[in-house]
Amino acid sequence: MTLPDLPQFPSFRPRRLRRTPALRRLVSDIAVRPSDLVLPMFVREGVGEPVPISSMPGVVQHSYESLIKAAVEAVEAGVGGLMIFGVPQRKDARGSGADDPGGVLNVALRRLSAELGDSTVLMGDLCLDEFTDHGHCGVLDANGAVDNDATLERYAAMGLAQAESGVHVVGTSGMMDGQVATVRAALDAAGHIDVGILGYAPKFASGFYGPFREAVNSSLTGDRKSYQQDPARPVREALAEVAQDVAEGADLVMVKPALPYLDVLRAVSDACPVPVAAYQISGEYAMVEAAAERGWLERDRVIAETLTSIKRAGASVILTYWAAEVARSDLG
Ligand code: PBG
Repeated sequence: MTLPDLPQFPSFRPRRLRRTPALRRLVSDIAVRPSDLVLPMFVREGVGEPVPISSMPGVVQHSYESLIKAAVEAVEAGVGGLMIFGVPQRKDARGSGADDPGGVLNVALRRLSAELGDSTVLMGDLCLDEFTDHGHCGVLDANGAVDNDATLERYAAMGLAQAESGVHVVGTSGMMDGQVATVRAALDAAGHIDVGILGYAPKFASGFYGPFREAVNSSLTGDRKSYQQDPARPVREALAEVAQDVAEGADLVMVKPALPYLDVLRAVSDACPVPVAAYQISGEYAMVEAAAERGWLERDRVIAETLTSIKRAGASVILTYWAAEVARSDLG
């Protein structure tokens, strides 16, 4: 293969603008701001001290007290928002803890809301998997399959409980069909018209969620392939799911995972009228931390590069476990 001649640009010398740091700084374009970043946090019922998550070094399951402290610090560092996941002590088939006002997630959200008010964007994960004893994102039918419409009722109740706990935005991450419309209708009917919905579409059935299972003490034995998207489906299916979520009332949509799906992120952000978020998930975090621990990657440099790439692919908002650290150090 031969490269075409470029007679029309006889003096194009891209290295001219790469020669000094000042030249590079002048033409640098993509910048990740702390306010673009959302910190996902885990709160565990019944612990007095934070519990480390071994597959996510540096991330913990918080106690209520340590959650509040770390959340305040992250907000002071300038992060744009917080996404809270609850780890209950007791689980059951219907995930009763999810919409119980005394359940771990709702208690934590109320306390965070009282502490932080409107100084940040408080988000709750709206999904049953942390609360079910079988670990699926919905309730099961008599055959053990995830029952879409029975699950929607549970999501509506969970959305209401979170709204009453003071969230600004609920993150519908369960991948049931019709979840955004159902939660929107339930919120509106109860007068919570200002509570927003972050629609997780597209969300792929990914092996990169692995460490998250430890983070929420998940009891899942199978997989989520009957409700999350197949990575081998073309981008147009992702676009269709996004269009559906927006039509149902999603205020933002999210692509998840991030790094292996930058093509999808680019297509969604080009097509989508609402802001697009990307979730740099547990396995993406663990992969970099593990390689850095072995001295195989330059940690801070790689973190910055991944975030820059996600931003370049079109994300307005990035969920990342490094959010507070990056906000503090201005790595982006
Ligand atoms: C579902 C949910 C998951 C994650 C966020 N919300 C787990 C899953 O879909 O299996 C994963 C986040 C991560 O891996 O960091 N409640």
